Amino acid sequence: MIPIVKVAMPAKSALMPALEEVLYSGMIAEGEAVYRFESEFNQKFGLKHSLAMSSGTGALHAALTLAGVGPGDEVISTPMTAEPTNTSILYNGATVVWADLDPLSGNMCPESVRQCITSRTKAILCVHYAGYPVRLAELKRLADECGIALIEDCAHALGARYQGRPIGTIGHYGIYSFQAIKHMTTVDGGLLTLSDESQLQAAKKFRWFGMLKGVPRTEVDITSVGYKYNMNNVSATIGLVQLQNISAVLDRHIENGQYFDAQFESIAGVDFARCDAAARPSYWIYTLLCDDSASVEKALNAAGIAASKLHRPNSLHTIFADSRRELPGLDTFYKRLLHIPCGWWVSDEDRARIVEVIRKG
Ligand SMILES: Cc1ncc(COP(=O)(O)O)c(C=O)c1O
Repeated sequence: MIPIVKVAMPAKSALMPALEEVLYSGMIAEGEAVYRFESEFNQKFGLKHSLAMSSGTGALHAALTLAGVGPGDEVISTPMTAEPTNTSILYNGATVVWADLDPLSGNMCPESVRQCITSRTKAILCVHYAGYPVRLAELKRLADECGIALIEDCAHALGARYQGRPIGTIGHYGIYSFQAIKHMTTVDGGLLTLSDESQLQAAKKFRWFGMLKGVPRTEVDITSVGYKYNMNNVSATIGLVQLQNISAVLDRHIENGQYFDAQFESIAGVDFARCDAAARPSYWIYTLLCDDSASVEKALNAAGIAASKLHRPNSLHTIFADSRRELPGLDTFYKRLLHIPCGWWVSDEDRARIVEVIRKG
């Protein structure tokens, strides 16, 4: 079976010596490797102020907290994502307000976001779903106009760009995930990036129990709640080795994605996710849109090719029952949605076979 997602580990010859060194260094908690990873990740992906975290979820919690989201506030979000995007909004006692989707892209629709804004709105949390950038320019304009924060959940979209800029740099906050099956994994891990340098100190405290590293434990004074969200040197070492080869991994996702876009242009009954012209997706998974997604899924699975919708619209979960509303864009998108593999593991022969099955099916 060609899987939709796959763990990307560096070659043993590159990873094992680095891992052995850090594991027996006596310095396995947060330290120099973490800070080097932050600096090299910033450099590679054009970010400025970033903190490595234990997970993307921790980074989301930090972004929402730094944006001032608290009890009674509303956060406008998308139902088409992995659940942590939205469960993290509940951590601070805020309410999720669902923006509807653009059914052509699967991303939140800026016109719908505008309609959701109230005096209680504190932030817009957008997701570059499946690796396809949202209409960032419009969302940023809206956020600035209303004096609210724009948080970019970039967990699916490492390497994607918008208006020539790396995603995660247009919103006020960006988060990444290095969980097992993302473009890049550190086994588990995440990263928070900030546009406002003056929030770095507060973010560092939030990441580590409310304390700052380097201040003697006998002198430290905790003034705000912090968590155990820091990355450790072992994960950071994996991340540093991953960065050496990440361009090749991302390039192959993008190459396969663009190949599929070109092929599916001419197959009746089949379309694919379309972003605005300023977006350059990084195709974590490929988003096919079919008139009869169930039949295409069956045909692909029978041919040994994994294909599925992968996520459940988060708005269907009982925990979000109070936020329920009509979302016709989501309904249209979800009915037609089928994810197919397009990552680094999909060879030229594999992708030709995937197209052939869809053409016949
Ligand atoms: C869109 C999205 N946001 C956030 C997360 C949370 O990341 P993590 O698993 O690193 O906590 C994930 C991954 O599971 C995700 O897919």
